[in-house]
Amino acid sequence: MRHFTQSAALAAVIALGLAGSALAQDAVPPGEQPVDPYVQSNANAGAKPMDDTRVFEAFRGKDGLVRIAADTVDRSMADPRIKEIFATTDVPRLKRTLAEQFCYVLGGGCAYSGRDMAAVHKDMGVTNRDMNALIENLQLAMDKEGVPFFAQNKLLAKLAPMQRSVVER
Ligand code: HEM
Repeated sequence: MRHFTQSAALAAVIALGLAGSALAQDAVPPGEQPVDPYVQSNANAGAKPMDDTRVFEAFRGKDGLVRIAADTVDRSMADPRIKEIFATTDVPRLKRTLAEQFCYVLGGGCAYSGRDMAAVHKDMGVTNRDMNALIENLQLAMDKEGVPFFAQNKLLAKLAPMQRSVVER
């Protein structure tokens, strides 16, 4: 009996441990859908962070970037030029990871938890025109937030080289 109790307790501890690690790996933020497993890394953000924090401050920090990312996505989903591409998108996840990516590349000290640019946009068939439409929407979102042009241009310069990983045709 004592032996049974001990091994039952051991089994319970192992089961809890396994459940705990599975949870840690699969944790999906509330309101988001799970995605296929991938290796999380700041390298997935596609650009190195800036040293100078003045640009990040001109965006009004992480809160400003959260608003800008959300507004860019909302505008793109209402934009007849590109809305179809976002038809099946997990919107809360896109808004969250986009804000993280902007914050990371502007040196705001955020970690980027999303996928890399080539993997996530693969087979989406994004064109240069689609890219220009999305960037226009980002510019409108930055204007609305009152971001000065010197700072807008710094973010655009960080994103421009990513066009090669996003545009496929
Ligand atoms: C430099 C330009 C771009 C950047 C920095 C960017 C960034 C991102 C990020 C961070 C994600 C989320 C990654 C994740 O879920 O792990 C994402 C997903 C997505 N992007 Fe982009 N993107 C760019 C251009 C575009 C363009 C031009 C389009 C189409 C017009 C587009 C459409 C999408 C869609 C539909 C998703 C969601 C994918 C899904 O639901 O699985 N992106 N992008």
